Amino acid sequence: MSEKIVYQDPQCPIEERIQDLLSRMTLEEKVGQMCQMNGREEPEKWLREQHVGSFLHMLGEETNELQKLAEQSQLGIPIIFGIDAIHGHAFWPTATVFPTQLALSCSWNPELIEGIGRITAKEAALTGVHWTFSPVLGIARDLRWGRIGETFGEDPYLIGVLGSAIVRGYQGEDLSAPYTILACAKHYAGYSETQGGRDSSEADLSERKMRSLFLRPFHEVVKAGCATLMAGYQAIDGVPCSANRWLLWDVLREEWGFEGFVVSDWKNVEHMCEDQKTCPTLEDATLRTIEAGNDMSMNTPGFTETAIKLVESGQLDVTYIEEAVRNVLRLKFELGLFDENRYADSEKGKEIIGCAEHRQVALESAYQSIVLLKNQDDLLPLSAGDGSLKRIAVIGPNADDVKAQLGDWVSWSGQLGEVEFERDPASIISVLTGIRNRVGDAGRVDYCRGCDVVDPSTEQIGEAAELARESDVAIVVVGDNLLLTGECHDRASLDLTGGQQQLLEAVHATGTPMVVVLINSKPLSIPWVTEHASAIVEAWNPGMEGGTAVAGILFGDRNPSGKLTISFPYHVGQQPVYYNQVPGWHTDCYVDMPKEPLFSFGYGLSYTSFAYSNLRLSVEELAEGETLWVEVDAENTGKRKGTEVVQLYVNDVYSSVTTPVKELKGFRRVELKPGEKKTVPLEVPYECLALVNRELETVVEPGEFEVMVGGSSRDQDLLKDKFKVIV
Ligand code: BGC
Repeated sequence: MSEKIVYQDPQCPIEERIQDLLSRMTLEEKVGQMCQMNGREEPEKWLREQHVGSFLHMLGEETNELQKLAEQSQLGIPIIFGIDAIHGHAFWPTATVFPTQLALSCSWNPELIEGIGRITAKEAALTGVHWTFSPVLGIARDLRWGRIGETFGEDPYLIGVLGSAIVRGYQGEDLSAPYTILACAKHYAGYSETQGGRDSSEADLSERKMRSLFLRPFHEVVKAGCATLMAGYQAIDGVPCSANRWLLWDVLREEWGFEGFVVSDWKNVEHMCEDQKTCPTLEDATLRTIEAGNDMSMNTPGFTETAIKLVESGQLDVTYIEEAVRNVLRLKFELGLFDENRYADSEKGKEIIGCAEHRQVALESAYQSIVLLKNQDDLLPLSAGDGSLKRIAVIGPNADDVKAQLGDWVSWSGQLGEVEFERDPASIISVLTGIRNRVGDAGRVDYCRGCDVVDPSTEQIGEAAELARESDVAIVVVGDNLLLTGECHDRASLDLTGGQQQLLEAVHATGTPMVVVLINSKPLSIPWVTEHASAIVEAWNPGMEGGTAVAGILFGDRNPSGKLTISFPYHVGQQPVYYNQVPGWHTDCYVDMPKEPLFSFGYGLSYTSFAYSNLRLSVEELAEGETLWVEVDAENTGKRKGTEVVQLYVNDVYSSVTTPVKELKGFRRVELKPGEKKTVPLEVPYECLALVNRELETVVEPGEFEVMVGGSSRDQDLLKDKFKVIV
């Protein structure tokens, strides 16, 4: 009878399977598991020659073929394939594309976002992918940074809630269940805190600031079971993240009990020699990252050879390697890759990927992401069909640009290089198509592009203005596009680019009511638009059903309910303008412009109105371990059904260290019929009142706290009351 091979036996406990497999592996095979290479460059060679255990940016049949080669190798260790499926599995040409993370965050709807994670996991798994490099948990503060649209906005609490929701969606309850994939929270940590908005510049962060803000969302997703983390490109206080033992070991594993694995960002190990200049040789960089607890290196070609040499020469203790390999193998076992989940099921994929049910969720998420910023004299919703709107002008460079609409990390956005699988543009409903579909025979819709987002030429502006003049309303769709957003696309200015400002001014000068729809990755400085447009609809990058959603909002099929999760500046010079600032004194303002944002965190209009009253707190004094219960009455005082996002902020009135003027601690989406009033309960657990003190301890300090509840972070939208924390 042949000996039972423990690691191949699904009935054996995972730790025993790992131990058995490790005992059979050569040093080369072990180091291979710590390496991830670019699947677009000779993956068979990397697998055969260096036993590479993971590839990124491969899809579908390519994964099956490589997986087969891996299965035929000595030990048959499966490959783990990763990709950036960050707003849907958008590199796959027929997959469902959702609004970007920033857009989705404006829904303030964790259940919706969890559902999107679930669909993305299903669609990705069906194409052989087991791991998405998502969510991005950066706190978005400097809008010049190109990657703002990849974040959940500027608030650490909200990012933690929404990040945990999408992680639950990707990973499900049990990683071995079919169609679950690993999440990867990135970029650990503080990557968004750039210098001048320039990507991957050193983050100037103290440990206190890290613990007070930037680590918080990561801790939340680790508590929610997030399986992997990606170490950021940048250094913090001089130490590159992939070589930062404090970050990767002391905090992550010792304090938080993380049991998954950490992957570096692209070429991080190499960057330490070539760009950050913290290591003179690749040996030095490899040694430092492995000893710091970086389990997998992404796309550093010399990594495997170097790591082997380090062990053989006695410079690196092999137990570091074994620890990392255990972490990687554990998740391969947990995902069932050694068992039934190894291969992509392409046939099934054809039925499920991009199916009508998934598109419906894309539409719903676009509806919930849209934020109405202005609606003078209730111009919106427009009416099509009652004869008052005979001619509708649709103008602007982003009205019919599906690439600008989807935003970054889709099949044509460049990260996979020249790919053979481009998405069919007809699968995306542009704003123009959405409006045409919606209006049908009830009116005439004419279109003029008017100008370009980048090219400043103004030749077509006259024609666009002429069209606006002849029309009953002008819907002008402006914003940014792939040349102005994403990694390596930071901006120094946040103004509208190309001919867009002139186009808007020309349309406005016609006197025809002007609705501005923004299709953009991030807030722009638009004070002129705010003053002169009759209405502004912020649609962000709203995904493949975005045009239907924009039209549905414009014509009142849906009442907008999105609220900003990031503040809009008047001018780039105000950066940063986030709401949760610590109080200053003398120079708490500018001499030449307001210090407040143009539109604040939490702000967003509806076609109805809401009123708040009767704020009640469960106690006047709160003792350790207790929960404060807060209630408020929210009433729909308008004529349409609507959804309001009720927000709760807290301020620690006097504290041993400075604390923000207000911090979000809870929220709830409430649906209200016209005239309906509901009591909205909100909860403030004791621990969420904590600050990080000078000794770097997380403590709740006794004394007075202010509770603020309302429809935005602006003082005028908040009811306030106080309570005391007692010892
Ligand atoms: C980005 C990561 C991404 C990786 C793989 C890097 O350049 O910073 O966010 O996951 O590439 O595509």
